[in-house]
Amino acid sequence: MSSSDITASAAWQALRSNHRTVAPMHLRQLFADDPARGRELTLQVADLHIDYSKHRVTRETLRLLIDLAHTAGVPQRRDAMYSGQHINTSEDRAVGHIALRLPVGDQLCIDGTDAEAEVHEVLHRMGEFADAVRSGTWRGATGERIETIVNIGIGGSDLGPDMVYRALRSYVDAGIGARFVSNVDPADLVAKLAGLDPATTLFIVASKTFSTLETLTNATAARRWLVDALDEKAVAKHFVAVSTNAERVADFGIDTANMFGFWDWVGGRYSVDSAIGLSVMVTIGKERFAQFLSGMHAVDKHFATAPLAENAPVLLAMLGVWYSNFFGAESRAVLPYSNDMARFPAYLQQLTMESNGKSVRADGTPVTTSTGEIFWGEPGTNGQHAFYQLLHQGTRLIPADFLGFARSTDDLPTLDGTGSMQDILISNLFAQSKVLAFGKTAEEIRAEGTDPELVPHKVMPGNRPSTTILAAELTPSALGQLIALYEHQVFVEGIIWGVDSFDQWGVELGKQQALALMPLLSEPEKPVSVGDSSTDALIEWYRAHR
Ligand code: F6P
Repeated sequence: MSSSDITASAAWQALRSNHRTVAPMHLRQLFADDPARGRELTLQVADLHIDYSKHRVTRETLRLLIDLAHTAGVPQRRDAMYSGQHINTSEDRAVGHIALRLPVGDQLCIDGTDAEAEVHEVLHRMGEFADAVRSGTWRGATGERIETIVNIGIGGSDLGPDMVYRALRSYVDAGIGARFVSNVDPADLVAKLAGLDPATTLFIVASKTFSTLETLTNATAARRWLVDALDEKAVAKHFVAVSTNAERVADFGIDTANMFGFWDWVGGRYSVDSAIGLSVMVTIGKERFAQFLSGMHAVDKHFATAPLAENAPVLLAMLGVWYSNFFGAESRAVLPYSNDMARFPAYLQQLTMESNGKSVRADGTPVTTSTGEIFWGEPGTNGQHAFYQLLHQGTRLIPADFLGFARSTDDLPTLDGTGSMQDILISNLFAQSKVLAFGKTAEEIRAEGTDPELVPHKVMPGNRPSTTILAAELTPSALGQLIALYEHQVFVEGIIWGVDSFDQWGVELGKQQALALMPLLSEPEKPVSVGDSSTDALIEWYRAHR
């Protein structure tokens, strides 16, 4: 049975017709017609203040977008996830990341087991381990305290913990730092090990499957580095693993007593709040890690219970659909006005693009509209001096998400000592979203006495939409809330497009091909004929230059 075509629904057609009316309208006009929107098109979800007023929608558009969410069955699909059903159909798995942040006592049954109880058992073990490392009870093989955690993992086993560790820099408090090695380019491992003392270094090998070539290769090289400096016995005190695959962990030579597990119902890109976050827990402590989880849970509850019209992940997802499918936008910029959030756009790239970069629907039939927003971005204000020119005056429509925090843990005085650097940062955020939305007309520019030849160059078209998400402080809880907010947006967009947001078959073929090509690179005598002349020629070139 094939899925029905969402683009043929009455709700979609109503949006098409609304788009014809709204697309020619300028945000200036939308604000003039509806002056209350700046205050009213906002939501408060836990600590997050979300302003979605600067979007190219009328209140009617918003109503129609919510109708579309209902037509696509968003509430039913959401409830199916919250009841442990196998909504990851191509892998026949439940999707249980929401269970990872359930408080003790809240139950979620997945495949006949009490997921919450299993989650808390692992959290408890992680907590004991984190306490032991932080207090110095767990010591290296030579009796020294651990000073550096090196997390070896890739994709979801790297991006999440790396992003969170950096974001929560100001909460790192036990004199233990973390480094993250992911790339199979040996430069990554070598650079990250530089200056480290094997006696005070603890490796966390993080891999859901424990079969990922990059991770096993780096872990083997790291093991060699350690054994060369200490001895084989030292491995037990300097290597722990995070995985769903105990057998492979044992095969690798890590005692499964030093393994922290999770479950196949946790997707790699949804796993930062599982044992994959162990490096974060060791560096910030189990109490703050618990706050991170409770922030996620607060948004999970909101997503599960708020009416769709006031449901932040639903609304923001539907705005994503609005721009992708009705305006033809290709990408969304994520612009954190927080240097500590520098890796957040990269984290979101995996979360969103590995989830919704699909051309067939869950039933295997082709999608009926474009899917998968391209997420990208850099922290402000750096991006302003790099790519914002295109956001402001380019020909493409690029909706943006601005993220900011009222208080910085590191505020410093300005040049003349009278102001705050944090105020400079946030005034830039507000200025950018304002200029993107409202621009500056030729008339306004002429009125300033500008040379007439320069007027067209200085016109700022505006009408470029954005969401602004603010929180008082970048706390573990606020960060958890932000992550969950995006996780659920991804899910809702996937429901509209009809795709399975929880599989990633498209990454497999490249891995297989790399394994097949590898022997050819180092054996010059082997004839090269891999089926296409370009790859043949590239291999020959590489052989000649390696
Ligand atoms: O290649 C993609 C992927 O499977 C991601 O989905 C995953 O996060 C990453 O590789 C790492 O996988 P693992 O944790 O099993 O090593």
